[in-house]
Amino acid sequence: MYSSGAQLPPRPDLSRFQMSAGFMLTPTRFLRSCQRRCGDYFTLMPQPGRTLVITSDPAAVKQVFTGDPDVLHAGAGNIPLEPLLGPSSVLLLDGSEHLRQRRLLLPPFHGERMRGYGAVMDEVAERHVAAWPRDRSFPLLPSMQAITLEVIMRAVFGFEDAERRERIGAPLRRVLDAVGTRTRVLALALTAGRQGPLSPWRRFAAARARADELLYEEIRARRSDPDAERGEDVFSLLLAARDEDGRGMSEDELRDELMTLLVAGHETTATALAWAFERLTRNPRVLAELISEQRSADAGEEYLDAVVKETLRLRPVVPAVVRRLQAPMEFGGWELPAGVNIAPSIFLLHRRADLYPSPEEFRPERFLGDDAPGTYEWIPFGGGVRRCLGASFAMFEMKAVLRAALRTVRPRVTSARGEGTTRRAITFTPSGGAKVRLDPAGAA
Ligand code: HEM
Repeated sequence: MYSSGAQLPPRPDLSRFQMSAGFMLTPTRFLRSCQRRCGDYFTLMPQPGRTLVITSDPAAVKQVFTGDPDVLHAGAGNIPLEPLLGPSSVLLLDGSEHLRQRRLLLPPFHGERMRGYGAVMDEVAERHVAAWPRDRSFPLLPSMQAITLEVIMRAVFGFEDAERRERIGAPLRRVLDAVGTRTRVLALALTAGRQGPLSPWRRFAAARARADELLYEEIRARRSDPDAERGEDVFSLLLAARDEDGRGMSEDELRDELMTLLVAGHETTATALAWAFERLTRNPRVLAELISEQRSADAGEEYLDAVVKETLRLRPVVPAVVRRLQAPMEFGGWELPAGVNIAPSIFLLHRRADLYPSPEEFRPERFLGDDAPGTYEWIPFGGGVRRCLGASFAMFEMKAVLRAALRTVRPRVTSARGEGTTRRAITFTPSGGAKVRLDPAGAA
């Protein structure tokens, strides 16, 4: 802890209850109002003993992403995820242990690997799009979740056989469901370790035990198969990975990293896709431009790429990144003491009018041409040594799904008003699940 005399940036004049309620229930309005009242740096104390300094200053973003990882810890802040991810998860580690895990995980996520996963993504996307109802409105989010889960099961876990996928997929889905909303996460925290018949914790622990049993069985089976390391999926590449001392991953490490990739990659990408459709349907000019690009004979993907980037700017799925200071550090003239969490707000940074003129407009053209935003101005995937490992994977997948959909259908809105933002476990999600109605491809 730091001394209570430390000078922290201003706090909005709100009670702890108002802060927690605003933060949870109306997060975007709350963040904007704090920034209006206090400026580019403000302090929140959402729970006793936890101090967050939120910033939307690009200079602070640069400091956080280029600063010393031994001073700026990210893993400590993710500790509530430990019962789900396990202690070896790259998300939970810091310092040299984090770097070792990250180096082992990086090669399967290099850009050039994406082409290999692309065929799976295209096939999954086309099949799900073909099954979308044509006669009624429906929310896209559940379908996006099914797509991203199947892609992870196949491209990451390497489960090509549908029966095998279902055998392990169903228990994994039960584990994910147990942490699918804030309320459920809270219920788990409150009942942690309690074994009573109605305890959510007990149900979660049973689901996790079943999923783990199958995961460990799979790890052992692959380990004893001499051909397994030759597979193209992420799991096979991780089995073959060695650190500089020639050491591979232990069974526990493999289990924890597979679970991490599932949790970090599934809901996030599905939500980003839902937002893409929510914004496109409310911006007919952009939708028409994208459809025209995607249906032309030599369909390029310059505009598609810009649409994905603009979606992640205007509706970032993860609202902030957090680092806990291990030593005092100066940000924007504030000498922040050790123990404070510095949190660059992706949401507020992406709405700065000096970086993005008319920031509320959905305008992919911002990402075309020479003055596209810089490294510390567009940060949906965080940055530095903690930058999202799945960034290329997620963007590749988003493009595959948008392409598959817009070549065959034309989505339209069911209400002119844009959907609001609700907070699920970690993500900022469209409140109606991105409800659309489909017109056949040729419709004007
Ligand atoms: C649109 C989709 C996604 C978004 C918006 C997103 C966003 C993020 C963010 C903001 C971070 C924290 C970065 C930081 O602290 O600086 C992160 C970390 C991470 N993400 Fe993603 N992510 C997405 C998809 C994925 C996918 C598809 C995977 C893998 C299959 C993945 C795996 C990870 C991992 C392993 C980390 C931890 C990296 C580390 O601590 O070294 N993410 N992601």
